[in-house]
Amino acid sequence: MVGFCRILCWIVRCEPESRVRIHTALTCSARTFIYAANPTGGVTGSAPSAKAWTALLRSWDRQQESSIPNRESKFEAVLTVLGTYLGRRFTVMDLGSGPGSLAVRILERFPQARVTAVDFDPVLLKIGREASKALDRHITWVDADIGSAGWTEQLPSMGFDAVVSSTALHWLDRPRLGRMYGDLARIMRKGGIFLNGDVLPLGEAKKTLTDITEKIRFDRYGTLEVEFGPWERWWKKVEREQKGLGPAFRERKARFAGATAPEGMLSLEDHVQLLHAAGFSEVDTLWQNLMQDRILAAIR
Ligand SMILES: C[S@@+](CC[C@H](N)C(=O)[O-])C[C@H]1O[C@@H](n2cnc3c(N)ncnc32)[C@H](O)[C@@H]1O
Repeated sequence: MVGFCRILCWIVRCEPESRVRIHTALTCSARTFIYAANPTGGVTGSAPSAKAWTALLRSWDRQQESSIPNRESKFEAVLTVLGTYLGRRFTVMDLGSGPGSLAVRILERFPQARVTAVDFDPVLLKIGREASKALDRHITWVDADIGSAGWTEQLPSMGFDAVVSSTALHWLDRPRLGRMYGDLARIMRKGGIFLNGDVLPLGEAKKTLTDITEKIRFDRYGTLEVEFGPWERWWKKVEREQKGLGPAFRERKARFAGATAPEGMLSLEDHVQLLHAAGFSEVDTLWQNLMQDRILAAIR
């Protein structure tokens, strides 16, 4: 059985470079793109139209959906919780927003909300900025390495009513995640809500349940190529074909050269512990699918 957590165990054992490469495929880690990309050089030509940027964002969604089943249901659950708890007018930060799939959905559902989208991938930030031009007044894009020293100083405002994240925080190792949760506790208002939608594996003690979820994943995908091929092909195609992204790709390569991936993946229990330690309460799962993708919620 080559399930998700099994694959992670295997990654930890294999050679550093291939480990990084496969971890990249698993996590869509921007830092390690350098290992996965086909370095075809810069992209030239005239910039795409607004419609073309939106189409690019949709193509991102499609490749993400191919390896994240129930992604739309997960987004819908985040929107439902936000609306139920906060009403229609609130401030929210999207951590590791990528090109803004969740940020845009929040603003489409709640036009009076204000979203701060934070990411550190120059290509995804560029796509996000261009594709969300019509929502300009309601969304602020921040280029920051979340959890690094001083990253919150780059935020335009504090006191967030909510912080959300989707398929991003698995990239942070334990010390950084702990620091980052401490930062969130400072920059969210008391009573604010944190919603992290990500694969958060059950701990080692829950081996039988883990095996069941791995078998479900294996039955669905079978191979790494089926599961993560669309992601790798998306990056190659975008670099090859998209006009106006040449400088962003060059910056991406310079920024992430030599970066390494963390080993393994923190468990659900790790996240719960770290959130409590940072001062959050009522930490629990509000939604999950059968492959350990869940929404972990916490109240500040
Ligand atoms: C799988 S993508 C998900 C993007 C988006 N949330 C979505 O669901 O489509 C993971 C994102 O996390 C971002 N990310 C990972 N580590 C980060 C960090 N330390 N600081 C900022 N962004 C980070 C990556 O750049 C990437 O955009």
